Amino acid sequence: MVRRRRMVRNYDPDRPVPPEIRDRLLEHARRAPSAGFSQGWAFLVLEEPADRDRFWAAATPRTEVWTTWLHGMRRAPLIIVPHSNKDEYLDRYAQPDKGWTDRDESRWPVPYWDIDAGFASLLMLLTAVDEGLGACFFGIPPERIPVYRAEFEVPDAFTPIGAVSVGYRADDHRSGSLRRGHRSADEVVHRGHWSV
Ligand SMILES: Cc1cc2nc3c(=O)[nH]c(=O)nc-3n(C[C@H](O)[C@H](O)[C@H](O)COP(=O)(O)O)c2cc1C
Repeated sequence: MVRRRRMVRNYDPDRPVPPEIRDRLLEHARRAPSAGFSQGWAFLVLEEPADRDRFWAAATPRTEVWTTWLHGMRRAPLIIVPHSNKDEYLDRYAQPDKGWTDRDESRWPVPYWDIDAGFASLLMLLTAVDEGLGACFFGIPPERIPVYRAEFEVPDAFTPIGAVSVGYRADDHRSGSLRRGHRSADEVVHRGHWSV
């Protein structure tokens, strides 16, 4: 399943994602690991054509590069927007068993709130493969985030970490990024000590 996964950027617009599969994606997302079991995530599910249109209008710029990319992506019958909530982590780690009552963000080696929402997203991508569907995780440009938030009345505490399109795969062009190829183990794995 891991080897079969790849980002899919064009979908069959006439085949909706069955509700039970949609629910399984979200159920698995909620099974993701989370720091302190904080589970400070939330998911916006968009299936109605009008809601999806509002998403694309709010979350993507009007440039030529995006227009080409949007051609296939807009055909996705389902969009799930995973959000992280930093405050929930600061609150959770201020509890007695963790004890970070100063809520000092410098205690965090990396933003676990975003990592956990990313783990949840990956489980959705893998679940899609398992169910014979395709999916793509993609970014929302920073300048579009306020527009997106306003459009869907997302509270300030929640940050969309990206979005996941889901659907049955249609003919898809391979991303130019793939020409980079998978890095070899020699390049990225260091055994015993950091070797160059
Ligand atoms: C954090 C993150 C952000 C990404 N953003 C985008 C994006 O904005 N648009 C897009 O088409 N693909 C996006 N991708 C997909 C990558 O381009 C893709 O994972 C990479 O090229 C490897 O291809 P594969 O996932 O099909 O193996 C993103 C992936 C990750 C993990």
